[in-house]
Amino acid sequence: LIASTTLTSFASVAMAADVPSPNQYYWPKGMNLAKLRAHDSESDPYGADYYTNYHKKFEQLNLQEVRKDIEKVMLTSQPWWPADYGNYGPFFIRMAWHNAGTYRAIDGRGGEEGAQQRFAQLNDWPDNASLDKAKRLLWPVKKKYGEKLSWGDLIVLTGDVALNQMGFKTLGFVGGRPDDWQSELIYWGPGTTFFPNKSSFQVGQNGTLKHPLAATHMGLIYVNPEGPNGDPDPVKSAAMIRLAFGRMAMNDEETVALIAGGHTFGKAHGAHPNSCLSGPPVANGVEHQGLGWADHCIKGKQTADDASTSGLEGSWSADPIHFTTQYIDNLLNNDWVLGTSPTGAHQWHTKTDDKIAPDPANPNDPSKMRPIMMFTTDIALKTDPAYHKILARWAEHPNEFADAFARAWFKLVVRDMGPKSRYFGSEVPKETFVWQDPVNMPAKPINQADVRELKKMIAASGLSDRDLIKTAWAAASSHRVTDHRGGANGGRLALMPQNGWAVNDPQDLQTILPKLEAIRDKFNAHSARKVALADIIVLGGSVGIEDAAKKAGVNIQVPFAPGRGDATQEQTDVNSFNLLEPTADAFRNYYRADADNTPPLNALVDKADTLGLTIPEMTVLLGGLRTLDINTNHSQNGVLTKNPGVLTQDFFTNVLTMDTRWQKAAGQEDLYEGFDRATGQKLWTATDVDLVFGANPELRAAAEVYASDDAKAKFYNDFVKAWTKVMNLDRFDLQR
Ligand code: HEM
Repeated sequence: LIASTTLTSFASVAMAADVPSPNQYYWPKGMNLAKLRAHDSESDPYGADYYTNYHKKFEQLNLQEVRKDIEKVMLTSQPWWPADYGNYGPFFIRMAWHNAGTYRAIDGRGGEEGAQQRFAQLNDWPDNASLDKAKRLLWPVKKKYGEKLSWGDLIVLTGDVALNQMGFKTLGFVGGRPDDWQSELIYWGPGTTFFPNKSSFQVGQNGTLKHPLAATHMGLIYVNPEGPNGDPDPVKSAAMIRLAFGRMAMNDEETVALIAGGHTFGKAHGAHPNSCLSGPPVANGVEHQGLGWADHCIKGKQTADDASTSGLEGSWSADPIHFTTQYIDNLLNNDWVLGTSPTGAHQWHTKTDDKIAPDPANPNDPSKMRPIMMFTTDIALKTDPAYHKILARWAEHPNEFADAFARAWFKLVVRDMGPKSRYFGSEVPKETFVWQDPVNMPAKPINQADVRELKKMIAASGLSDRDLIKTAWAAASSHRVTDHRGGANGGRLALMPQNGWAVNDPQDLQTILPKLEAIRDKFNAHSARKVALADIIVLGGSVGIEDAAKKAGVNIQVPFAPGRGDATQEQTDVNSFNLLEPTADAFRNYYRADADNTPPLNALVDKADTLGLTIPEMTVLLGGLRTLDINTNHSQNGVLTKNPGVLTQDFFTNVLTMDTRWQKAAGQEDLYEGFDRATGQKLWTATDVDLVFGANPELRAAAEVYASDDAKAKFYNDFVKAWTKVMNLDRFDLQR
């Protein structure tokens, strides 16, 4: 279909151009800390406040005015990329879908927020061919509204305008997605070539796809329209669709609604063979101004009949710029035969090949009418019994179809935004969905005097510093900035499934949580203001850390901001929360050895990345937590101190000293023993994620700062700051 470029050839281009290459180029297995550097805000031209304050700018917009501007662009065909049927609506829907459809439920990465489709490599993926033009068409609107309208919001709003203009009623529009300013480093899969090369296929023989991946091919958002690895087998294709859309957090009904709803509109483009097209934007000369896939086979004036994108060709419906039930009707009521597109791609046509669809360049000319078509992935929906049943029901009840598509589309475009408190604008739907992880806020929250009283109650509870700190960490560190799910808010540590996760030492929680719950109940029984368990858990962490520092003779105050709420079990979708279960948490020296787990050092960076930590924050937190002795299962690995439970710089001094000789422990993967060089006495055990702070030059540089004699105050300050950051990751109210 589309020209494929090997990933390594990008690297070769970098070498040839005399620019420095990253260390990973020479030592691909070396530790890559680049993700964490991205958490500094210095590359953001709007400055450090942009991410937290974007919504304030957004709320100044008159959305009706923006909608009118988008609609004007949508209905004004441009000579450099003429609109099919005079309407860019379907093209814009595909753009919005491909932005949002990168979302992966397992690690929360991808999705609409950040508008990553503006950057390599998403902008250059074969699946995103031609969408460079869609974004360029919108530039005048983006230019007009500037800082008030991020690309992420503009793209979703454009999808909404397109659906509305073509007669479909959506649930509403939600704004509040600040843009990214650089390409996010995401592991998209093991493929070393892009689709359609055979080696871009990422699904194993037995139909498995490694966690956390969702796309079946490198360079595709989801599945191959022609069937798995080009095999036009609808049964196998249905299995791929279920796998990929499932990883996007969509069930069968949502999946069918999205595909049937989407392919109601527009057409596929395969006017010219792949050999006519230049490479993707990243591989094109500067004279192309960031556009790719230039078609040198177009002769004379370009028309909508010239467009080449996927290599497939045709529309699904006879009215591709209006919302109808034609996709479902056409799919179910015709016998479909396998054939090929003009460029030789597998696609399906009806037995009679009736010319019922308009020509994109001459939609009003009856002499130019064309037949409709289906992809193998569309036929899969008819072939698969469960999908077919859904389609058959909707053929009878079109309103149910429209309702299901509206809900699935809404979920698609806001799924990565986190809870409802992160939604902005005048068009936010009122309805609450369980996938938004709702939380009930106390009507009257506690004040600072209550906080002081609660701290005393917690200190008198008989719980150890270790109990308190590890419980607060277990709750708050379940947050992931990738899709803003999890965290202490909601008190879900006490609910299924979180209370049973191995990393949280469930047997300990069974004794710790009832004591914290008893404090909540006692306080709430006598106070008009009410406290949530979530607040008590986090406050307990403050009590524990302040006491652990006091044991080192240091007085510190851990800032605490009340205002959390609790959720009920009914408000907690167990299956969806299970995806947040850490298979590794280096901060608690926890690593689950299973086939899908990434090596421990990757897992360390990954966890720090999902907590939004910078390299110094990760360093000071991990080192401090080791001395606080909060490892899962009370493991002593990496607890490099003679005073466990006392907050000190000991981890850093002991990991950096030359007085200790380290060697691998016999017969145990990822375990090391440290011996006193002078006496030969065994002093410590540690894992990869401990020793890397002495071994990796960048981490050693950060560890040296916290081990230094003059850094005592800095260590305590930075530790408290990083700890508080994690505790408040889900406090979107504080970030405003
Ligand atoms: C077009 C594949 C699901 C919306 C296309 C094209 C392909 C494709 C190959 C043609 C691109 C071109 O040549 O211009 C698939 C596959 C899907 C899928 C394999 C899943 C199995 C969806 C979903 C939506 C959607 C979920 C939206 C909810 C569209 C629209 C177009 C389109 C509106 C027409 C674009 C235009 O007219 O320019 N799709 N798609 N698709 N797709 Fe999908």
